[in-house]
Amino acid sequence: MTQSPLAFAKIRKLTPPDADQIFVVLELARDASRVPIGPKWTYPQLEAECREFGLVAERQHEIQAFILWRDTGAAWEISFLATAPDAQGQGLMTALLEHLKRERPENRPIWLEVHTANHKARALYEKAGFVATGERPKYYADGGAAVLYNYG
Ligand SMILES: CC(C)(COP(=O)(O)OP(=O)(O)OC[C@H]1O[C@@H](n2cnc3c(N)ncnc32)[C@H](O)[C@@H]1OP(=O)(O)O)[C@@H](O)C(=O)NCCC(=O)NCCS
Repeated sequence: MTQSPLAFAKIRKLTPPDADQIFVVLELARDASRVPIGPKWTYPQLEAECREFGLVAERQHEIQAFILWRDTGAAWEISFLATAPDAQGQGLMTALLEHLKRERPENRPIWLEVHTANHKARALYEKAGFVATGERPKYYADGGAAVLYNYG
């Protein structure tokens, strides 16, 4: 019997010491992406984000995907998410988003924004039930607009 790659992944809450590994995944994902993918955090900025909320997917203690978010009271706002390039396309982010949706307080929507040309991420969000609610023109460094997505 073959097992899916997901069978070997563990999902758990982020802890502040995860910042080191998350920084590596973030930089690898940024280098591999053809479109701008969100904030260009320095390491100290990322460390500060890692004191907010997050979920990670890891295999053998190696973080392969993460979601970071903030609780604004009105919503859970995803500040960044990424899967390491060599672990993409294996369902890790789908699993993390499903976990996030189950964990949120009742009636608390989840918000995020993404580059209009980030087709991979947009397909992921739409499959996960997120709905596009608006656009922010000229939002990214290349002049591209951000699409705003809402869940729940
Ligand atoms: C977008 C991203 C997070 C997806 O993570 P992932 O772990 O590969 O996602 P999954 O394996 O769960 O795939 C979920 C869906 O994403 C889409 N997707 C994933 N890889 C894709 C690819 N190479 N081409 C097109 N769509 C793709 C598909 O809709 C896929 O669903 P399917 O497998 O049923 O077709 C990942 O590609 C990534 O880290 N990209 C760089 C960072 C980024 O863009 N972050 C978002 C900024 S807001």
